[in-house]
Amino acid sequence: QEYEIKWKDFKILDDQLLGEGAYGIVFKGQLAGNSNAENIAVKTTKPKVDRSILLALMTELKVMIHLEVHDNIVKLLGACTEFLREGRVYVLVEYCPLGSLDSYLRTTVKTKLDSLVLIPERANTNEGIPGTVDSMSSNDLVNWAAQIAKGMQHLQNKKVIHGDLATRNVLLYSGNHVKITDFGLSRQLLNYDSYVKQSQAKLPWRWLAIETLKSMIFTHKSDVWSYGVTLWEIFSLGLIPYPGMGWTTEFVDYLEQNLRLSRPKYASEEM
Ligand code: ADE
Repeated sequence: QEYEIKWKDFKILDDQLLGEGAYGIVFKGQLAGNSNAENIAVKTTKPKVDRSILLALMTELKVMIHLEVHDNIVKLLGACTEFLREGRVYVLVEYCPLGSLDSYLRTTVKTKLDSLVLIPERANTNEGIPGTVDSMSSNDLVNWAAQIAKGMQHLQNKKVIHGDLATRNVLLYSGNHVKITDFGLSRQLLNYDSYVKQSQAKLPWRWLAIETLKSMIFTHKSDVWSYGVTLWEIFSLGLIPYPGMGWTTEFVDYLEQNLRLSRPKYASEEM
């Protein structure tokens, strides 16, 4: 009840799609305010999905409530459950104006490539000015990486496994402030330190640890593996991990035979 937001108190801008997954969908929206309406992001399920999908969104909502506020986790504003019986739920979170880190890396950062190489010591000073990145340095990349680590540390403190950490699930609140989102695959652990997923449907295999691929076991440590792959994405400026490879069941064998991502172009030896 503390988080309930009435249907009449927000609106969905349904021509402004922010993101779309297999079952979930995120629209830009606005909170009804007296003066200037606050932008929000509204997550809901696609029409006519299975009841299990709706339950997954409810679980995501519960996990977000449990997480409370953290600088590097997308903030929950509330949820509208008025139409739960008809199979609809809306989860309202803060709007991150610069979108997801994967597309930001592939577009904005890529075009700043020269300065990225030329001035490695300069940090981005454009906090709060959406879309303005005059120059970037590898310090900015390290800064994002550190913020994601802080967010993940908070998840571990709260005994939450993300299960789908990747740059597509990191949002830019500003040029130098990132937040982790999408707890759709996350689980809050109660008395165990791992959970076993039932089915293998549509898992993000490039980001998954060996033991997860083999036995569907998710732990804080498998999140750390995904964090490593996320670092690789950041320091390659948004390349797809294991470039050119498609899913085969032999992928696990390759990993076991020591297939690993090699140092990406923009990572220092130290990194
Ligand atoms: N895409 C998915 N969630 C988003 C959010 N909260 N802000 C901006 N873009 C998003």
